[in-house]
Amino acid sequence: MFSLKDKAAVITGGGSGIGRAIAVKFAEAGAKVHIIELNADAAADTVHEITQAGGQAEAHSCNVSNQQQVLDVYNKIGDIDILVNNAGIAHIGEATTTSEADFDRIVSVNIKGVYNSLFAAIPLMKQKGKGVILNMASIAATVGIPDRFAYSMSKGAVYSMTLSVAKDYLADNIRCNSISPARVHTPFVDGFIAKNYAGKEEEIFDKLSKSQPIGRMGKPEEVAALALYLCSDEAGFVTGCDYLLDGGFVKLNN
Ligand SMILES: NC(=O)c1ccc[n+]([C@@H]2O[C@H](COP(=O)([O-])OP(=O)(O)OC[C@H]3O[C@@H](n4cnc5c(N)ncnc54)[C@H](O)[C@@H]3O)[C@@H](O)[C@H]2O)c1
Repeated sequence: MFSLKDKAAVITGGGSGIGRAIAVKFAEAGAKVHIIELNADAAADTVHEITQAGGQAEAHSCNVSNQQQVLDVYNKIGDIDILVNNAGIAHIGEATTTSEADFDRIVSVNIKGVYNSLFAAIPLMKQKGKGVILNMASIAATVGIPDRFAYSMSKGAVYSMTLSVAKDYLADNIRCNSISPARVHTPFVDGFIAKNYAGKEEEIFDKLSKSQPIGRMGKPEEVAALALYLCSDEAGFVTGCDYLLDGGFVKLNN
């Protein structure tokens, strides 16, 4: 297993789904984990799971959309080796069925939230002379997915922020990559199915599962395994890359 011994890792949205699996995996690998969460109860749950297993974790209540909150929390943490920009929200809709309020909400969490964390964490990494950043993008960043206008737009922005940051901080020894999962079974997926397809939950779950040629959704732990590699020293040659983790969604759907 790759080691993150003595590294401090900040994980946004670490209270649920993929972020929680990454937090648990990183703590198992020896990192001190900082969970940045809107949902304090969920963050406390993850911290409990990690500390019960003998790991180190701390929860920080914070809305990633709020720059001052993010700056206050990250400056208080002070020492950051790894930043995982994972917090994100879903939205279903086309350009003409996406309200201005929904569009702004997606921008403020999925795009501005990532920018705020970069803005706060990169100066701390520069002081240390090194750092690793991992952004959670999506296959929706590069493939036309029906009914995901605002969400796809936001993940396209996450993908380009990844390239931009990887380029700008090469000389500072800061690596930056992204993972683009297809559907991963988390409360995020259950939530948007329940909200948008009431009464057809099973049918939609089945359809979304089969949209991966491998025949199922991914598991949060499968994303966490790749995240661990990308944030470890063994991935020291990897920067400016986006990794598909998609059960064949992009290349085998023909
Ligand atoms: N699940 C999938 O199928 C899938 C696929 C591709 C990409 N992703 C991306 O992976 C990431 C995690 O998804 P998930 O499925 O684990 O979601 P999830 O809903 O299970 O967890 C997201 C967490 O982020 C937190 N969060 C939301 N808004 C926040 C804010 N403003 N400030 C702080 N925390 C906030 C939530 O409280 C929640 O705990 C997201 O960026 C999502 O877009 C998910």
